[in-house]
Amino acid sequence: MSGGGFRDLRGRAWAKVVGTRPLPQLRILRAYDALSIRDFRRTLRFALFDRETSNFTYEIGNRGELIDMLSAAFDAPAAQIGSFVAEIDTDTDLVKRLEAKLRRRRDANNRTYFGRRIGWYTATRWLKPRLTIETGTADGLGTAVIARALQRNAGEGIPGKVISFDATPDAGWLLDEELRDWADLVFGDVSETLPRELDGAIVDLFVHDSLHTYEHERFELEVVKAHAAARFVAISDNAHATTALADFAAETGMTYSFFRERPVGHFYPGAGLGIAVGKRS
Ligand SMILES: C[S@@+](CC[C@H](N)C(=O)[O-])C[C@H]1O[C@@H](n2cnc3c(N)ncnc32)[C@H](O)[C@@H]1O
Repeated sequence: MSGGGFRDLRGRAWAKVVGTRPLPQLRILRAYDALSIRDFRRTLRFALFDRETSNFTYEIGNRGELIDMLSAAFDAPAAQIGSFVAEIDTDTDLVKRLEAKLRRRRDANNRTYFGRRIGWYTATRWLKPRLTIETGTADGLGTAVIARALQRNAGEGIPGKVISFDATPDAGWLLDEELRDWADLVFGDVSETLPRELDGAIVDLFVHDSLHTYEHERFELEVVKAHAAARFVAISDNAHATTALADFAAETGMTYSFFRERPVGHFYPGAGLGIAVGKRS
């Protein structure tokens, strides 16, 4: 075999392992100013092996801060909030089912990390909402943790459902049949679908995770406000980027708290979870 032939073979084998991944992933790292020589192994791992291009998932290292924040926001015992966090952290059955779906996709990593969505799970377990609204389903990771919490609430005699909204027709593909028992999906632009679907509804818990602009988040909050239960809670997944929920809380007399997740082994600096709790919650 000639040297060139061996190089071709080696090149093809390499391309098979990493595909065309490095270039787009390197562009993402550059966009986040995260091309790091100091953290060369992390950079290389993301460039070669990570399949995510947005809505990144990762382990978080500051669960204690999340528990403290939620416990203060809900005026709930930290031990109880911590027990809900432990519940989702040890949910191997859910992780196994989600990972079976993830493995079939080329645009997703094989491992499941809930990140700040652990906070969504915990809020759903603590509040026991009858109706939860989530805007921005994407793959359905957040919807899955909310649905799982609703399933456990139902097991304790307090059923509920989540309606999740997205413009993308295949959004929610992570949800299996069991989770779909607790989750309805609505497709289309929320500017049109949210007011329509909420007609006559009473919303206990609202999670904003769709278009992350101040104006759009305020629009959604105003639509949901007209349907808010007496014991209403709103979560923003955009709270590190805009003050939409903080302003809404101040104007409506809700108590606002903020948590910034700390990703482990990932270049993404982490998103903020804002939470507004009505006085009667
Ligand atoms: C950040 S992702 C949602 C992540 C998801 N909640 C999770 O837990 O992984 C944002 C999603 O919002 C959707 N979206 C953005 N603007 C929208 C709009 N005006 N109407 C409906 N969906 C929208 C996008 O299609 C995208 O799937």
